[in-house]
Amino acid sequence: MKDTSKTKEISRRTALKLGAVTSVWIPSELLAQPPNRLRPQPGDQLIYGDGDFSGDLIDPTSIKLNQQPFPALAREPGSLLTRDGSRLNRLMITRIDQEKLLERHQKNAAEGIVAFSAICTHTGCDVTNWNTEKLAMACPCHESMFDIYNGGTVIGGPAPRPLAMLPLNMKDGILTVAAPFRGRVGFTQQF
Ligand code: FES
Repeated sequence: MKDTSKTKEISRRTALKLGAVTSVWIPSELLAQPPNRLRPQPGDQLIYGDGDFSGDLIDPTSIKLNQQPFPALAREPGSLLTRDGSRLNRLMITRIDQEKLLERHQKNAAEGIVAFSAICTHTGCDVTNWNTEKLAMACPCHESMFDIYNGGTVIGGPAPRPLAMLPLNMKDGILTVAAPFRGRVGFTQQF
């Protein structure tokens, strides 16, 4: 006859072992991302990403209509921590004619100023070029083009999806992140 008490004891031990394996406690601080690697957070302020004024708050009044987008980063206002721990946090910003911006993207612009991820969705180059005829951001690597009047939609080249757009608002004259990126940041390799 089967020894049921022994069988039960073995099952209990097995369950305890499995439990030990499946419920390992890891301190939350080890799971958390360092704050400078986090994507731009609502309330962050925008600073110049390079050049003579690198690290200074962006002066919105200096941004001309349809000028070539320039590099920017997000910074936490209290701690002044810059979110520069990941290249996926790089931004490009410019001013557009807000009335020509497609209606569904209007709420993402702050007085005509728009911000996009700088990372091409093709194989991840920085999208640093500007097509003045099409008013489109252009990637120097394989010539993908992105329509910033239509939420970063691809209008040329091999990029598989739009550039992610970062919603902005203006608070006391300071360009501020209004919400997390719209769309996925980063790239998809296609060979
Ligand atoms: S990496 Fe931008 S088009 Fe290929």
